[in-house]
Amino acid sequence: MESQPLAVVVLAAGLGKRMASRQPKVLHRLAGLPLAAHVLRALVPLNPSHTIMVVGHGADQVRQTLGDGYGHDNSLPLEYVVQPEQLGTGHAALMAEPLLRSHDGPLLILYGDCPLLRTATLSALITRHRQSRAQLTMLTCIASDPSGYGRVVRDANQNLLAVVEERAATLVQRAISEVNSGVYVFQSGWLWSHLNDVQLNAQGEYYLTDLISMAISEGRGNVPPPATIAAARRVQTPVITYTLDGLDEAMGINTKVQLSQAESIVQSRLRQQWMGAGVTMLMPDSVYMGVDVQIGADTVIYPGVVLEGKTYIDAACTIGPNTHIIDSRVGESCRIVSSTVEGSIIEERVTLGPYSHLRPGTHIHSDVHLGNFVEVKNSTLESGVHAGHFSYLGDTQVGENANIGAGAVTANYDGEKKNPTTIGKGAFIGVGTMLRAPVEIGEGATTGAGSVVLKDVPPQTTVAGVPARAINKSLSAEE
Ligand code: UD1
Ligand code: CA
Repeated sequence: MESQPLAVVVLAAGLGKRMASRQPKVLHRLAGLPLAAHVLRALVPLNPSHTIMVVGHGADQVRQTLGDGYGHDNSLPLEYVVQPEQLGTGHAALMAEPLLRSHDGPLLILYGDCPLLRTATLSALITRHRQSRAQLTMLTCIASDPSGYGRVVRDANQNLLAVVEERAATLVQRAISEVNSGVYVFQSGWLWSHLNDVQLNAQGEYYLTDLISMAISEGRGNVPPPATIAAARRVQTPVITYTLDGLDEAMGINTKVQLSQAESIVQSRLRQQWMGAGVTMLMPDSVYMGVDVQIGADTVIYPGVVLEGKTYIDAACTIGPNTHIIDSRVGESCRIVSSTVEGSIIEERVTLGPYSHLRPGTHIHSDVHLGNFVEVKNSTLESGVHAGHFSYLGDTQVGENANIGAGAVTANYDGEKKNPTTIGKGAFIGVGTMLRAPVEIGEGATTGAGSVVLKDVPPQTTVAGVPARAINKSLSAEE
């Protein structure tokens, strides 16, 4: 039997007052991704027919950040609807109704502040719902510390009665450890025919969770007991629960402290994933990585390493200690020590650092050595280039096997614009050379220590002095 399509509504209109921030809550970042994007990431494999984001606070900003879709080639297209006033989760869900009139399969509603949910759990919850005859299937959790969550209230026979928010809960209810995770699968028709009846509560809000007691009391209204056992088995259980042990997956982020707790859960998942793929981490707890980072087998990560953005590190590298790599690719067997690499490509067997800085637009070919305090920006260094100590190369092309002496600097900025420098294959740039751009040093040319080069140097020529002039080699040989 072909199953009916799934639609999803993500509630993300709240300000998130408890974050004490100007930024809309769902845009706070976890492992480099906005909270709401973590939810979307988990939704992609479910392939829903609709994914509707209910936005309000900072609506434009949320829309701009999340865009028209998520995933590879926007495989999860997003539709947005604005909740003009934040009148509660029930009211927020109602905003999506006009977009879902033609949908009549199951409807997953979840909150944009629950970034740790896994696809497998959502998928199990949906399957459970599809197999039942329930109006509503909800995800609950057994929490060691339930504070802040809605409590799942049951009768003496464990039959579900209601979800009671903490502020409305009695002391006895507050002691309940089963909490509402805020993830629900509804029968669409039932939801839309009941959502309008949710009553304004003492907090001045319409709570989505009130639908639970509504469904249950409606179920009880079907009084005359079924005539046969078979009929009794067909009676719809209006609400069923699917329960997780612990809050590791379903925790909602309301405060910065919870954000940091979620971060440590995500980080530990990522480290385990990459160690499972063959990466060695000497002190895993000191390594921080973004969700889109990839690392090859047998790479060793020393303590104090931060890997962010779309960073790909190939196999058998040594990274760290104390290295920060952002949006960069690192080829096989590189060694990067105490350095910062941003927006750069590094090919195989490159050694970098300690204390070097590669800035955006840099491409380092194989077997290059950049040592202590070398800064490179928007430059290409061909294979075998050496720059061992204290150099700045900006907007520079450096040919194969050129040697950049200690303290050599490209003066690429003339006060108005950046100018290019070209250093030919096999050139030898002497210690303390100043290259005033735009300038070209020919293949195999040499600059003497301390020279200030203002004019192009032809291939195989030696220049020296301030300003640098060609040296007559035979003369100097006689001296
Ligand atoms: C909610 C649940 C609680 C549950 C907890 C799980 C309700 C009434 N309470 O509480 O039972 O244990 O989540 O994390 O549902 N939102 C809107 N519009 C609004 C109000 C909220 O879009 O008018 C969005 C928020 O942006 C947020 C989500 O709904 O992403 C949940 O709201 P929040 O205020 O965080 O609810 P909790 O108090 O955490
Ligand atoms: Ca919340």
